[in-house]
Amino acid sequence: MSQLAAGVVLVTAHDSDDGPHGEDVGMTATAFLSVSLDPPLVMVSLRNGSRMDDLLAEQPLWGVSVLSESQRHIAGRFAMKGRISDRLLFEDIPYTRGKVSGALLVRGALATLECRTENRVVAGDHTLVIGRVLEVELPSPSGGPLMYFRGRYRQLG
Ligand SMILES: Cc1cc2nc3c(=O)[nH]c(=O)nc-3n(C[C@H](O)[C@H](O)[C@H](O)COP(=O)(O)O)c2cc1C
Repeated sequence: MSQLAAGVVLVTAHDSDDGPHGEDVGMTATAFLSVSLDPPLVMVSLRNGSRMDDLLAEQPLWGVSVLSESQRHIAGRFAMKGRISDRLLFEDIPYTRGKVSGALLVRGALATLECRTENRVVAGDHTLVIGRVLEVELPSPSGGPLMYFRGRYRQLG
């Protein structure tokens, strides 16, 4: 599958149970795709036992930021395991908070979505999370997409 070029997204969700103000969780993903137009459905595949999988098993709202080529550092940061605190990871990243989901949405992303889980399908060591798109922002994107191909981040062209 390393031969299949993919766009890179940051999946986010707000864990309101974690601490006094909750905790924001983020995970870099390439296994993300459009499923249906009517109704609008998208899907992300989450490794079983990852923090995001555990959180989305408990609560249905999540955000997606489609990363631009200038946001490689964000992808790298949210692909790390054994992280410090998610609060520190988000500290210097410009974001807005989704009005429906409460999830953090990265400013400067090519597009952001807010989703509510409709279906979860366990498939091997991953869970396919299918979400209905509740909100879309296309913040006049400039620049190209961040991509991942043969184990490396890439830009188009
Ligand atoms: C380019 C890239 C794409 C990734 N895509 C996915 C993905 O689609 N699904 C997934 O579960 N993990 C994916 N990962 C791995 C997660 O980002 C990583 O395991 C996670 O952030 C670590 O969190 P955890 O400690 O809770 O597992 C990807 C990593 C990279 C570098």
